[in-house]
Amino acid sequence: MTASGMRTGVDEPFDPSWFRLDGRTALVTGGGRGIGNAIAHGLARSGARVGIVDLNQGSAGAAAETIRASGGAALGLDADVRDPAQISAALKEIQADLGPVQVLINNAGIAIRKPLLDMAEREIRDLIDTNLLGMIHCARAVGPGMAQAGYGRIVNVASISAIHGMVTRVVYCATKGGVDAFTRALAVERAPAGITVNAIGPGIIATPLLAAYLEQHPDKRRRAETEVPLGRIGVPDDLVGATLFLASEAARYMTGQTIYVDGGLVAGDSWW
Ligand SMILES: NC(=O)c1ccc[n+]([C@@H]2O[C@H](COP(=O)([O-])OP(=O)(O)OC[C@H]3O[C@@H](n4cnc5c(N)ncnc54)[C@H](O)[C@@H]3O)[C@@H](O)[C@H]2O)c1
Repeated sequence: MTASGMRTGVDEPFDPSWFRLDGRTALVTGGGRGIGNAIAHGLARSGARVGIVDLNQGSAGAAAETIRASGGAALGLDADVRDPAQISAALKEIQADLGPVQVLINNAGIAIRKPLLDMAEREIRDLIDTNLLGMIHCARAVGPGMAQAGYGRIVNVASISAIHGMVTRVVYCATKGGVDAFTRALAVERAPAGITVNAIGPGIIATPLLAAYLEQHPDKRRRAETEVPLGRIGVPDDLVGATLFLASEAARYMTGQTIYVDGGLVAGDSWW
């Protein structure tokens, strides 16, 4: 897709502008803070208009205000990805203001750390409702518009937990494994409509989701710093490049893939 919104032809030689997102409208879920917030700002800096939804009251609005203050176009709304009606209503408002959504960043997620047998039924359902069903609801909401345009980019935020079992995160791991499978299956189903579906798999990233845990467990922080081959815990901005690539025309021949952005964690052990 060029800046004018036209799709690139297969015979056209690669142009660096394919990495840009000028003229596109993107929707970021859970963009009020953490990884989603960094991605929302990255999208705006790459030329996209950005719709942001978040459950945490006012945080999406505040993120959008920051983007507008630096010259970008953005709208932030309170909405819960667990509720398809709230997502449809927010999408309608965002599209009325910013134009048809061509890029969905399915990022909103929660983590609950407890052994499986200690978890309440409500906590199990909340994890599945947010991390897996939330992404499914949002992909369904943007689906008809993308199909009508014959173009779309969906980037789901999975995790290294999809392929790496972790104690006290059994249900979280299951939801992220589900996101990986959802990504592949939706990719093949939507390919004929011109829609690509990929995922990023963050490793250990210092966001509010993880901050309290790392603060309470300095030993785990030290161990993470030692075991990550690139020698540090990630920051939200580390996730932006891979996400924007998957959202861009530069990734036009990629679908159904997960890119791990983890400092080398899933590649192997650095201590051996
Ligand atoms: N931080 C990490 O180390 C890490 C690692 C792997 C994957 N991830 C994934 O990255 C994504 C973002 O995580 P983060 O670390 O930035 O977390 P975070 O808690 O800092 O941010 C998540 C945002 O999502 C919002 N949110 C939560 N439930 C929502 C809902 N039902 N509807 C709308 N918004 C909702 C929160 O209000 C928050 O603003 C999640 O999917 C998470 O599973 C994070």
